[in-house]
Amino acid sequence: MTQQPVAVITGASAGIGAAAARRFARGGYRVALAARRAERLQALAQAIAQEGGQALPLPTDVRRPDQVQALAHAVLETWGRVDVLVNNAGLGRLAELTALDPEADIRLQVEVNLLGAMWVARAFLPAMQRQRRGVIINVASVAGWVGLPFYTVYAATKFGLRGFTEALRREVADHGIRVVGWYPGPVRTEFGQHAFRDERVRPPKRGRGVALSAEQAAEVLWRLAHHPRRGRVSPWWMSPLVWLNAHFPALSDAVLVRWARRVRAAS
Ligand SMILES: NC(=O)c1ccc[n+]([C@@H]2O[C@H](COP(=O)([O-])OP(=O)(O)OC[C@H]3O[C@@H](n4cnc5c(N)ncnc54)[C@H](OP(=O)(O)O)[C@@H]3O)[C@@H](O)[C@H]2O)c1
Repeated sequence: MTQQPVAVITGASAGIGAAAARRFARGGYRVALAARRAERLQALAQAIAQEGGQALPLPTDVRRPDQVQALAHAVLETWGRVDVLVNNAGLGRLAELTALDPEADIRLQVEVNLLGAMWVARAFLPAMQRQRRGVIINVASVAGWVGLPFYTVYAATKFGLRGFTEALRREVADHGIRVVGWYPGPVRTEFGQHAFRDERVRPPKRGRGVALSAEQAAEVLWRLAHHPRRGRVSPWWMSPLVWLNAHFPALSDAVLVRWARRVRAAS
């Protein structure tokens, strides 16, 4: 019998990561759950076990290279392989740049969204290279293509993650490793509970209807893991917006400058 594949998911204690962990477990993967909140990971591992799956809760702060190395060590000691790595841990702190706190907002986003993804990929790559196979999915955002006002630092981390994804894809292709960028629009998770440092920046209620559920997001990740491609924007109809932004920057500037003005005018 062939060995069960292994998926490592960061940011597995909530939202997209938790839903992805359940989806991969249901699909027959053994799943390693990484995030900081140990109780949540424990509860999710139990729920997965009750559904007949196997999960390993591994409390990890992706800002800490030593903890990330310990994560890789634990997964490889326990299961001896890694087939899919979902670099999903991330957060937003959205407000005018001058209103963001240098440490608690700016450094935090860079350390989790960008550096964290680098530490995790770097820790698991040697095993994937030995196996001569593996898929790394970096969860970026549409904000990795389109710079929205008030998303300055978040956008910088996600643009950065896109560059990292593209360069790494080319670097490791000869080792049989696929590196995929995923660029979702809004997803209904806990993200918004902490992201909107300035309430005026929060999207209007009617706009939230377009958001994916965490389960739909997990389904996209499942498909990308099994049909890897360079990148994917979700939902699909956001792709033309990305295209417009790239090809008609003056128009995009005009629309988004007006939006920024309206946000600032709101009380
Ligand atoms: N929701 C959206 O609208 C949306 C849209 C586009 C892209 N995204 C991206 O999707 C990813 C997942 O976000 P989500 O929407 O699922 O948000 P979420 O529900 O807030 O979950 C975020 C996850 O990241 C983990 N995390 C935060 N800091 C961490 C750290 N230092 N070390 C390890 N894990 C950490 C959190 O776990 P702990 O707090 O337990 O550590 C949590 O599991 C993020 O990269 C986000 O940028 C989200």
